[in-house]
Amino acid sequence: MLSGKRIILGVTGGIAAYKAAFLLREFQKAGAEVRVTMTPSATRFVGLETFASLSGHNVAVDIFPEEGESTDWTRHINWGEWADLFVIAPCTANTLAKIANGISDNMLTSTVLAARCPILICPTMDGEMYEAPGVSKNLETVQQQGYHILEPDSGYLASGLEGKGRLPEIESILDNASEIIGSIKGPLEGKKVIVTAGPTREHLDPVRFISNPSSGKMGIAMAQAAQKLGADVTLIHGPLSVPVPDGIHAEKIISAAELFEAVQNYQNADVIIMAAAVSDFTPARVYDQKVKKSGGENSIPLKKTRDILAWLGEHKKESQTLIGFAMETEDLIKNATQKLKNKNADYIVANSLSESGSGFESDTNKVHLLSKDSDKPFEGTKRDIAIEILNTIFR
Ligand code: CTP
Repeated sequence: MLSGKRIILGVTGGIAAYKAAFLLREFQKAGAEVRVTMTPSATRFVGLETFASLSGHNVAVDIFPEEGESTDWTRHINWGEWADLFVIAPCTANTLAKIANGISDNMLTSTVLAARCPILICPTMDGEMYEAPGVSKNLETVQQQGYHILEPDSGYLASGLEGKGRLPEIESILDNASEIIGSIKGPLEGKKVIVTAGPTREHLDPVRFISNPSSGKMGIAMAQAAQKLGADVTLIHGPLSVPVPDGIHAEKIISAAELFEAVQNYQNADVIIMAAAVSDFTPARVYDQKVKKSGGENSIPLKKTRDILAWLGEHKKESQTLIGFAMETEDLIKNATQKLKNKNADYIVANSLSESGSGFESDTNKVHLLSKDSDKPFEGTKRDIAIEILNTIFR
């Protein structure tokens, strides 16, 4: 259940903070990616470096970036959008009270407010604190607000007292986290999503074709992201340079004409994402046999292929969302905005080929998600960008 999921682990200042390092390991063993945010007092119990080296990420404590770090002034928002689950273990009475009252005075509590994912709180405290009326009231409040609570265990406490307040066993926290993740209904649950990916090949003869270097990575990332958000996905793809991941239903095409035929079968889909790099031209004449160089022609007459996205835009259903891509080498926003309009798409993901860290074969990308009235930039791995784009549109 936790495999491939993104978890924020929030650690607050209690003696059980050291157990959070074991919890982090178990999340990772279950296949999750984990980032850690600590309250300032949690750093008195366990060093930042412990969680940083275990998670492979900087640990965020303050809402402002640490000195020398990037200028990511809105990382509580970015983290909040990134995560599938936020687990606060241990959660002190102090942080619980802040959450109950919507206080955001550090990275952890600010991310709680910004998070779009479920939040699991593991209240952990010593002595009679857990039974204090203020704590009971706050627990009730956060439960009413929709946060998940895992009650503490009873037993021997750090003070030497016996009582209710121990951090539950790691296994129990994992079970709870899995259960919450398993019950999440993605925003694309029950939706049919078609994603096209990769290049097309326009054959001149059996051995030669016109094509482009599209790897299909961005389209595959979009298909995986849609599936992660609950959609029933079909990937229609040209000849890819990477394998289609297991579990994605895929149909293979070669030419733009075949792609058009395949897409027409799904023209009523709820969402169509045209990430394919469709050839704009195809040879006017296709030879059955290899064209020999002796006596062969030295030019290739071409004809235009059908603009599939424009056709989909013309036949768009009211409830349908149509997402196109635009690959540009100049005037990115201007050209992509023109495509949004001309093709009647709801969104265009605009890629610039001239930016470093973006483009055909790369694992990373820099894009702008354009709609009629918005322009949102995204940067990162194609996988992360795909999720963020779909979350922006559908969540
Ligand atoms: N597209 C399409 N059918 C085509 C060409 C492109 O459906 N024959 C789609 C692509 O899948 C993409 C969008 O249209 O979603 C824009 O593709 P792009 O290659 O950037 O632009 P073109 O429309 O081909 O225009 P130009 O080549 O002039 O930039």
